[in-house]
Amino acid sequence: MFVEAYSYDDVLLLPGYSEILPRDCNAHTRLCAGIELNVPIISAAMDTVTEEKLAIAIALEGGAGVIHHNLSPEEQARQVAAVKRYLNWVIETPVTVNETAKVSEVKEMMHRCNVSGMPVLDRERHLVGIITSRDLRFCSDDALQVSEVMTRKLVIEQGSPSPESARKKFDKNRIEKLPVVDNENRLTGLITVKDMEKHAMYPSAAMDGTGRLITGAAISPLDYDIRIPLLKNAHVDFVVVDTAHGDTKNVVRAVEAIKKKFGIPVISGNVATREGTRRLIDAGSDAVKVGMGPGSICTTRIVAGVGVPQFSAVLECAEEAAKDSIPVIADGGVKFSGDITKAIGAGADVVMIGSLFAGLKESPGNEIIYDGRIYKEYRGMGSIGALKKGGGDRYQIAKDEEPTPEGIEGRVPYKGEMRSFLRQLVSGLRKGMGYCGCKNISELKNYRRFVKITAAGLRESHAHDVQITQEAPNYSRS
Ligand code: XMP
Repeated sequence: MFVEAYSYDDVLLLPGYSEILPRDCNAHTRLCAGIELNVPIISAAMDTVTEEKLAIAIALEGGAGVIHHNLSPEEQARQVAAVKRYLNWVIETPVTVNETAKVSEVKEMMHRCNVSGMPVLDRERHLVGIITSRDLRFCSDDALQVSEVMTRKLVIEQGSPSPESARKKFDKNRIEKLPVVDNENRLTGLITVKDMEKHAMYPSAAMDGTGRLITGAAISPLDYDIRIPLLKNAHVDFVVVDTAHGDTKNVVRAVEAIKKKFGIPVISGNVATREGTRRLIDAGSDAVKVGMGPGSICTTRIVAGVGVPQFSAVLECAEEAAKDSIPVIADGGVKFSGDITKAIGAGADVVMIGSLFAGLKESPGNEIIYDGRIYKEYRGMGSIGALKKGGGDRYQIAKDEEPTPEGIEGRVPYKGEMRSFLRQLVSGLRKGMGYCGCKNISELKNYRRFVKITAAGLRESHAHDVQITQEAPNYSRS
């Protein structure tokens, strides 16, 4: 059998009649069962791309990070917990103190837990007061009991408060902490003014039902039993069974077992065919990740001679997944914002990005100065360097086996902060949606009007016959 297949560079979306302005296009999408994102972009589970800092930065802008698994299970879970703690709406388990504790204990706890105030509880855990650094400022006797110095007159919320109601109480009473109680006056949570301010600063943040940032973590078919309990404890939102070849018995079995045992949203992959997509969906996968060899650092197609150009792979897998309304993630090969429009136009719900994010300030790779310019290191998870750090599971390489790399190690130009870079990507996508007259992701997924272009067409598409004198924030050919 022989089929012609296309990569993003081989095609363009046809323009269509439009009544919508790019800024009015909605980039909201489904990542997998029960998880929605405000922008259709997640960051790659790679050790030079996604650790806690980048996962926080992308979720604040509406996407999500997938924390890589070249980390010990404990460290990976710690990083997930750090992302989940970064933004709170109602802190469900705030640090509290008993009314009989001494002031010295409160001071020590405030320092250790890095908090500026705590709800005070009686023996039955009823809320009886609040103690803050303001109460302690003029208290020189550390032997006093908390009940002697705490503030008793409380402003509280009861039940399930709304952000509007909390905001009004903060403004009216000029307080910094607002305890939440049930109808028996037992503490159920705490809202802080700092968290309210952070929420206001990031109106597009991707959040779970309790106002915490969304984040995922990568696992392998061999280590999920160890990692998932720790990740669940850290409140991870979804896990990604991260392999180079998802259409295997190992991955299918792992997905089935995870769904049965842990009941957590699972994304699995990678596949590049209709049949592979079907097997992962039948195993219970909540979303399917597509991509075999399109990544900038990938050498799988060259080393193994196997793969499918990414545009066609996404088109075919998305067609299969649509039968069960399962989202598809187009993983790898995004070089410009226009590739995101093409991936979604081919039927993807979300794209996964590695190289474009590796140069960001928040990525974990080291900075390198070369020829007077700043770069950051970026390497494939199948490169020798990453395999040495433990990434062999992804490529079915045993610990004592001589590795055959399927990726390279390199550097990418430094790109500054996630916030402005991601906004450029999303605004490029919105422009594409505007050109096609699609007001949301679902309309773009069903647009399906493409042209195949020639090498001359691609040359004409890029800046040509001119020397670029001023680099644009969304276009570079390095
Ligand atoms: P981009 O193009 O965004 O691609 O840099 C990132 C994706 O590439 C995959 N990946 C690899 N593929 N060898 C491969 O064949 C590798 O060493 C490798 N490391 C990462 C992965 O799917 C990632 O999201």
